Amino acid sequence: MNAKIIYGTAWKKERTSGLVISAVLNGFKAIDTACQPKHYREDLVGEALQVLYDKHGFKREDILLQTKFTPLSGQLPTPTLPYDPSTPLPTQILSSFSTSLSNLKTTYLDSYLLHSPMRSLALTLQAWNVLVGLREEGKVRKIGISNCYDVRILEALEEGEEEEGVRGKRKVDVVQNRWYEGNEWDVDVWKYCVERGIQYQSFWTLSGSPSLLSHPSTLHISRTKQITPSQVIYKLAQMHGITPLSGTTKEEHMKDGVGVERIDLFGDVVEGEDVEAVARELVTSMDEDGKMRPIGNMGGRS
Ligand SMILES: NC(=O)c1ccc[n+]([C@@H]2O[C@H](COP(=O)([O-])OP(=O)(O)OC[C@H]3O[C@@H](n4cnc5c(N)ncnc54)[C@H](OP(=O)(O)O)[C@@H]3O)[C@@H](O)[C@H]2O)c1
Repeated sequence: MNAKIIYGTAWKKERTSGLVISAVLNGFKAIDTACQPKHYREDLVGEALQVLYDKHGFKREDILLQTKFTPLSGQLPTPTLPYDPSTPLPTQILSSFSTSLSNLKTTYLDSYLLHSPMRSLALTLQAWNVLVGLREEGKVRKIGISNCYDVRILEALEEGEEEEGVRGKRKVDVVQNRWYEGNEWDVDVWKYCVERGIQYQSFWTLSGSPSLLSHPSTLHISRTKQITPSQVIYKLAQMHGITPLSGTTKEEHMKDGVGVERIDLFGDVVEGEDVEAVARELVTSMDEDGKMRPIGNMGGRS
């Protein structure tokens, strides 16, 4: 998914449909959901899409759709379960995938993710092979994994590529992770993704970094550029090759999120290199000539 920001549909319950319609009408071009009734109403995302197609002239290819396979550990017990837990894992995934296509009223997905690694690496690889197959068959454009904070798992997913002789066959296209101050912005995984051209999607982008949102430099940039502190953080994320998810329920915040792409915060994009670079660049102030000026540590970091 190449959108600069993705609309997230978790926890919206019966409001999902109206909010997705509003998000797309306000400029979001990508939607994230999951076949996980506990937190997402994927079916209502589908209803929203139908309204957008029928009443607002959108076509399927105008909107990037991403959903997830959620392992049993992340699901509520039946009857809401989108697969029979007694069947083998590949069957569970194909059943969940088929439910997602039906819910989302589509024949293909732009992006399909494992909601998390499985309880063992062997099972994670087994699940990954199913996603690789779906991509090969053209049913999914991109595949990826969420809640994966160990680079070794990402390496393992892509391992064996040379032996199989098909370049890109096992490639990870997308990682969707918690990006926040509590995990030092997930720097190892983020860096791995940037270096390999994997799209890094962030959640908790605003709520997870209160010290960034209230940092004097954020507030200074916000005042100087007349944008909101949330827009500053989204912009800084985008400047580091991150695609933030926004699950806002407010139209005003939808416009803010979509508008970030057009904001020219610092002129040239600065390349991030390591955790210190991320921290420094996230918390910067501007020189009079508009250049970024790192101000060093933040949030008690030494
Ligand atoms: N893979 C996973 O396990 C996982 C886990 C969590 C989330 N996600 C995905 O990520 C999406 C986003 O979730 P999130 O946890 O990052 O939080 P979020 O739903 O984006 O919202 C976090 C808070 O930020 C506020 N907010 C959003 N945009 C704002 C703006 N422009 N200005 C000011 N406040 C703003 C929201 O309030 P308002 O509603 O008032 O704007 C809300 O209180 C989810 O919907 C889901 O798709 C995935």
